[in-house]
Amino acid sequence: MQYGHFDDANREYVITTPKTPLPWINYLGSEAFFSLCSNTAGGYSFYRDAKLRRITRYRYNDTPTDSNGRYFYIKDGETVWNPGWQPTRTPLDFYECRHGMGYTVISGAKNGVSARQQIFVPVGDSCEIDRLILKNESGATKTLQVYSYVEFCLWNAVDDSTNFQRNFSTGEVEAEGSAIYHKTEYRERRDHYAFWAVNAPLDGFDTSRDAFLGAYRSNASPEVVEQGHCTNSVAHGWAPVGVHQINVTLAPGESRSLIFVLGYIENPAQEKWAAPGVINKAKAKAMMARYATDAQVDGALESLKAHWTNLLSTYSVKSGDEKLDRMVNIWNQYQCMVTFNMSRSASYYESGTGRGMGFRDSCQDLLGFVHLIPARARERILDIAATQFPDGSAYHQYQPLTKKGNLDIGSGFNDDPLWLIAAVSAYLRETGDFSILDEQVDFDNDPALARPLMEHLRRSFNYTLTHLGPHGLPLIGRADWNDCLNLNCFSETPGESFQTTGPSEGPVAESVFIAGMFVKYGREYADICDHLGLDDEAAQVRAAVVQMEQAILGPGWDGAWFRRAYDAAGNPVGSSECEEGQIYIEPQGMCVMAGVGVEDGQAVRALQSVAERLDTKYGIVLLQPAYTRYHLELGEISSYPPGYKENAGIFCHNNPWVSCAETVVGHGDRAFEIYKKTCPAYIENISEIHRTEPYVYSQMVAGIDAATFGEAKNSWLTGTAAWTFVDVSQYILGVQPTLDGLRIDPCIPHAMDGFTLRRVYRGATYEITVDNAAHVEKGVAAVTVNGQAVAGQVLPLAPAGTTVQVAVTMG
Ligand code: GLC
Ligand code: GLC
Repeated sequence: MQYGHFDDANREYVITTPKTPLPWINYLGSEAFFSLCSNTAGGYSFYRDAKLRRITRYRYNDTPTDSNGRYFYIKDGETVWNPGWQPTRTPLDFYECRHGMGYTVISGAKNGVSARQQIFVPVGDSCEIDRLILKNESGATKTLQVYSYVEFCLWNAVDDSTNFQRNFSTGEVEAEGSAIYHKTEYRERRDHYAFWAVNAPLDGFDTSRDAFLGAYRSNASPEVVEQGHCTNSVAHGWAPVGVHQINVTLAPGESRSLIFVLGYIENPAQEKWAAPGVINKAKAKAMMARYATDAQVDGALESLKAHWTNLLSTYSVKSGDEKLDRMVNIWNQYQCMVTFNMSRSASYYESGTGRGMGFRDSCQDLLGFVHLIPARARERILDIAATQFPDGSAYHQYQPLTKKGNLDIGSGFNDDPLWLIAAVSAYLRETGDFSILDEQVDFDNDPALARPLMEHLRRSFNYTLTHLGPHGLPLIGRADWNDCLNLNCFSETPGESFQTTGPSEGPVAESVFIAGMFVKYGREYADICDHLGLDDEAAQVRAAVVQMEQAILGPGWDGAWFRRAYDAAGNPVGSSECEEGQIYIEPQGMCVMAGVGVEDGQAVRALQSVAERLDTKYGIVLLQPAYTRYHLELGEISSYPPGYKENAGIFCHNNPWVSCAETVVGHGDRAFEIYKKTCPAYIENISEIHRTEPYVYSQMVAGIDAATFGEAKNSWLTGTAAWTFVDVSQYILGVQPTLDGLRIDPCIPHAMDGFTLRRVYRGATYEITVDNAAHVEKGVAAVTVNGQAVAGQVLPLAPAGTTVQVAVTMG
């Protein structure tokens, strides 16, 4: 069943009922000001950091779900309705929500009046625009009252939802003209305020939530709206809100637009005040003046669309499969940009208060967007690397506002350092900008410890090399990619964090997954050394990699698949010797991607085991058999009921690893089958089972052991976005950036006739035609560039600014 449909020409998903199984959201903003916006106009805004600079208030876990946002109440006689249905939930005559690239348009109609709410964050500005266009579609004059509504958050979202004894006394606002200014704590140490303004004279306003809603009411039925006039309340403490009242009379056929701006302003300390106690509003007024007319708003929307057209033109495919094209060309890249911006901080499942930017998460997100905005990838790499510890290990996360590492969930996740190599290698392959390796970058955010970025990579590699266990495999530390495999934790106390309990490093627990990473990213590191002329180092690195491969194929091999780990007692995890959890997905994907066992058949055997033991119709589960009881020696993984999350859920992030791995051994049919199983566009028609948005990936889909098999959770913020884009763009369609140029090596379903692809790379445009008349799954018989035959599969670098025609014949 579907709740809408794709509109590819406009790059939109069109939702046709407000009652989606879960709120289906969009992200507005891609620089500093961000808004989450659901299909009923729910959500919230923040500036840079969803914890420390929350602008509007949102209540997770509230009932009814998703009932705070930027709302317009339209009062038409005795009927009160919202264009997006919430929060009054008055039945509408028409409803539609279009989520596009950085904007959302919600349209509703009731009793002959239509209302269109366009919501977006303009490129280069720190505000959200909400334009409301009302139209009288009836034959009679309409006299309406329009009320806007936002609820301000007192900046720190954690404090805001916990420290009520203080916060009920601190709220302050100013109302001037058609703007409401939220200035809580501006009197003391804050240099920022927010405002909610409209480009029309007001018939009233409210800034006190109690005054607007009335006692014991919710925003489903504000007393002010019921009575038909605002009270011009000024909030002193309690809950400041922004409410404008505008009375609108529309002749038949007439329409009227109102432009609302939710803005964020910072003032330098010496310019904070216009008069004692009165904030300096100059920048706010300048911002309002930028969006005072429809022409200005139209212009800003056009710029936003042009911005996305430009970004998405870097990589686009025409394959004849419209689902594949829409995911590659639109939604998957869009989601990559969102995960880059948000990491795992703010979604409808991540509260924006729990996690900062993950070290490993951000490094992996970078793999998916580096081609879109290499300059910001460069900046991100330098920020992340600056949080690394001098011994090469890493804080697990950092706070985006301060860019400092934090120990909220500890450190000592021993896969972290290698992800830095993955990110830098991807950046170098995309850009060829080796100057980044010379950048002086702090260790532990301490400038006294700054060393060139290359030294950071070296210490990443050496950290793994110097932390090996009894089988010659890397020590796992608190956990590796799988945060829930906590082999040194042994927690028996409810509520303890599995990630920070116990020693960060036990003497023996080892990870085969990190071993696979070491081989893959060790090789990439050696390639970088080659480029810098560091021949000895390259040779040492390769020797260490070969030794690690042997350890994987020795104690890391279980007979028909790669083992997952060795626990703190030296027992194998993910082995046929185990009672539960005999086979895990992660090492199969990572080790085969790294090329381990390809020559002697273990790779193919391992992938066959995945197909036999882990595959389901909705994707590949993380492990089997699921853990049915708590295993003290394994930690959080066994805390989840069978089939959920890391305990045998379909953890989408690692499905593309297996798809990539299948291409490494030449299986195009199987690689694409795996790709399709979790790919949103291909499962749109089971939205009632899947429940999350059909245009983006979710972190998890309930596995075969779960009561709700096929139900997805945690949409949007997942490494699945980046890894799937790597899978489909580089491994399946086979356009692979290398240090020396683009390499073409498709691995596709044999039935596919071929495809055409446009790739902008290092300033040049490659128009690539792949011909698969031979109907093979993999193999390149001939390559020409502008009609000239090319030896091998790496295209010569075309000069920036030129366009070249590339013809690839498979066979
Ligand atoms: C979450 C985390 C990620 C981790 C994964 C598996 O998605 O953000 O860092 O690798 O879970 O545990
Ligand atoms: C929980 C989740 C896991 C996530 C981790 C982050 O363990 O199950 O997916 O990576 O929290 O701390």
